Amino acid sequence: MGHRDLGQPRLVVVSNRIADPRKTAAGGLAVALADVLNSTGGLWFGWSGKIDDEAPQGEGKVHVTQAGSVKLATVDLCRADHDSYYLGYANGVLWPVFHYRLDLADFDAGYIAGYRRVNQLFAKKLMPLLRPDDIIWVHDYHLIPLAAELRALGCTQRIGFFLHIPLPPPLILAAIPGHDWLIRALFAYDLVGFQSQADLSHFAGYVTAEAHAQQVEEHRWRAFGRTLEANAFPIGLDVEEFTTLTHAPEGRDMYERMRSEYSRRKLLVGVDRLDYSKGLPQRMRAFRHLLDKYPEARNSATLVQIASPSREDVEAYNDILKEMESLCGSINGNFGELDWMPVRYLHRTVARARLPGLYRASRVGLVTPLRDGMNLVAKEFVVAQNPEDPGVLVLSRFAGAAEQMREALLVNPYDTEGTAAAIQLALSMPLEERRERHEHLMKTIRRQDVHWWCQSFLAALEKAQAEVKGTPWL
Ligand code: ADP
Ligand code: G6P
Repeated sequence: MGHRDLGQPRLVVVSNRIADPRKTAAGGLAVALADVLNSTGGLWFGWSGKIDDEAPQGEGKVHVTQAGSVKLATVDLCRADHDSYYLGYANGVLWPVFHYRLDLADFDAGYIAGYRRVNQLFAKKLMPLLRPDDIIWVHDYHLIPLAAELRALGCTQRIGFFLHIPLPPPLILAAIPGHDWLIRALFAYDLVGFQSQADLSHFAGYVTAEAHAQQVEEHRWRAFGRTLEANAFPIGLDVEEFTTLTHAPEGRDMYERMRSEYSRRKLLVGVDRLDYSKGLPQRMRAFRHLLDKYPEARNSATLVQIASPSREDVEAYNDILKEMESLCGSINGNFGELDWMPVRYLHRTVARARLPGLYRASRVGLVTPLRDGMNLVAKEFVVAQNPEDPGVLVLSRFAGAAEQMREALLVNPYDTEGTAAAIQLALSMPLEERRERHEHLMKTIRRQDVHWWCQSFLAALEKAQAEVKGTPWL
C-alpha cells in the first residue's frame, strides 16, 4: 500500500500507546500501527508516555513532531489521570474482564471518572488538529468513549474503532459496573472492528440482549437512534518487512549465534509481554511435564522464553513475575545438568531486528495464551521460518489467531498433559508434514497481512459513513 494520494482523506490514528514508526516497540498495537502509518503517512495521536506532575487533572501539554511521513501528536497526563485511566480503568478493569479474568478486576468506583476525563482530554486536544475530510481511526480499550466525546464537541468526520483485545461473552461484559454506558458509547462510531468472529458474535449477543438492538443488515445493528456497522478484521503482519528483517545482518547474526550455541539441541521459543493473559506459568508447567514424561526431551530440548516487562504498576503483574521466576528456577534446578539448562528465561525486551533470527533458529514456537485478541508472535514465528526446514507452531485455541491458523498444532493451555503431548509431537514432526503445515499457514498470513487489514477496515469505514450520514447522534 503506498502513501494516500493527494485528495484522499488524511488518516488520523488515535491510540493510547504510540511509538516512533521508525523505531521498534513491544506490543501488537504499536507494531501494527507503525507498519500501517509508515506506508500511508498521516497523523498519529496518543499519550506521550510521560507523566507531568505539574498538570492539573484533565489537562496535559501537547507535543507535535514529524517522524518521516507521519506527524506524531502526543499529550502528557497528570499522575492522577494516568493512575485512574491507564492503571485503573484500562488495565485494572477492562483488560482483565475482556480477557475473561473477573477475578483480577478491581472495580474501584474512582477509575471510571479518570477514564472519562482522559477521553475528554484526548477529544479536546485532537479537535483543533483535525481537517474536515480526515478519516479517524481509534484503537483499543483505552479509548472506547472517544468518538462520543468528539461528537459532543461537534466532530462530524468518519470515525472507526478497532478493538485489539477480545470482547468477552455478554454475561462477562455485563459484570462491569457501567457496561451499558461503555457499549452505548460504541454507537458513536461509524464502524467497529473486532479481531475474530467470536468477538463479533459476543458483540451481537450483547447488543441484542442488553441494548435491544435490531440487526438491520448482515453487519449492521441499530440502537440508541444510530446504525452501527460491526465486523471482524483479523489483524495481520507486515510480511515483507518481517521477511526483510529475517534476512538482514542482525537477523542472520542472531540466527547463526543461536544455531552454533544450540547445535546439538532443539530450541523452543516463547516471546511475550509478561502478562497473565499469555499463559506463561501454564506453558512452563507443560514444558516441565514434557521433561518428566518424555525423557528423550531431556538434554535435547531447550526453551528460550523472553518476557518483556509490562504494566509493572498494576498489582496482578507482580504476581506473575514471581511465579515465573520460581517456576523457571525449579525446572532448571530439578532437570538441569552441568552442561544443559532446560529453560533460558529473560525478563526483557529483545530488539525487533533480532527476533526473526531467534524464531528461525527454533524448532518449536510456543504461543499459548489463555485468551488473546489475535497474537502477532504466532504470525511472526511462521514468517521467519526457513520454508525448506520449518519449525512448528504450537498455538492456543484461545488466541484469536487460532481462527485463521488451523494448521498450527492447536492446544488447550489449561491442559498440561495435552500441551506437553503437542510439544512432543512438534519436536518429532517429520519434515514433509512440517513443510505442508508451514505452506498453508504462510498462504493465510500473506493473504490477510497488515495492508489487507488496514485497507479492508478503511474501505468499510468510508462506505459506512455514506450510509449513516445525517443520522442524529444520540
Ligand atoms: P500483545 O499485543 O498482547 O503484546 P502480540 O503477540 O499481538 O501481543 O504482539 C506483541 C508484539 O510485541 C509482537 O510484535 C512481538 O514481536 C513484540 N514483543 C512481544 N514481546 C517482546 C519481547 N520480549 N521482546 C521484543 N518484542 C516483543
Ligand atoms: C496490547 C494492547 C495494546 C497495548 C499493548 C502494550 O497489545 O492491545 O493496546 O499498547 O498491549 O501494552 P501497554 O500497556 O504497554 O501499552
